[in-house]
Amino acid sequence: MKREMKLKQRIYRWSAPVVLIAWAMVLGVPSTLLAAGECPQKRKTPTAPQKFLSMQNPIAPDEANFKAGEKIFQIQGKPITCQTCHGKNGDGQSDAGFESTPTARNFSCADTMSALPDGQLFWIIRNGSPKTSMFAFPSLSDNQVWQLIHYIRQFAKK
Ligand code: HEC
Repeated sequence: MKREMKLKQRIYRWSAPVVLIAWAMVLGVPSTLLAAGECPQKRKTPTAPQKFLSMQNPIAPDEANFKAGEKIFQIQGKPITCQTCHGKNGDGQSDAGFESTPTARNFSCADTMSALPDGQLFWIIRNGSPKTSMFAFPSLSDNQVWQLIHYIRQFAKK
C-alpha cells in the first residue's frame, strides 16, 4: 500500500514537467508568433480628453474612404507608414528593427479595439502616445485620420 502511494507520488511529481515540456514543444513556433499579436492586449495608453471621447467618425465607411485609409496605412504614411509598426495585417507585428515596448496596438484584437471609442483613436493619431514609439501625425488632415480609423477598425471584423 505504502509502496503504491510512493509510486503515485513519483508519477505526479514527474508528470507536471513532462506535460509542460510537451506543450512547450507543441506551442514552440506558434507562441513566438502569438507573442506580438497579444489579445486582449494590455493598454497603458493615456485616455483622451472627454471632448474627444464623445466624437464619432463623421465620414461614411464607404469604399472610397476605406481605400484612402488603406493607402495611407500601407503605402503613403509619412515619415513612415503605419504598417511598419502595426503590421500589414494590423496585428501589431512590427517590421524588424521597429519592435518597441510597449508593442504597437494590435488592431485585429476585437476585445481590445471594441472598447476604444473613435475619438480615442483620433486623439492618439493626432497627438501620439507619450513615452512610446507612437508619434504624432500632424501632417494628416482630419479627414485622413477618420479614413484611417475606418480602415484600422476592419482588422478586428474579419
Ligand atoms: C514607430 C512605430 C509606429 C508607427 C509608425 C505608428 N504607430 Fe500607432 N502605435 C505604436 C505603438 C507602440 C502604440 C502603442 C502605444 C501605447 O501603448 O501607448 C501605437 C498605438 C496606436 C493606436 C492605439 C491608441 C489607443 O488608444 O490604444 C492607434 C489608433 C494607432 N497607433 C494608430 C496609428 C496610425 C493610424 C499610424 C499611421 C498613421 C500609426 N499608428 C503609426 C507605434 C506606431
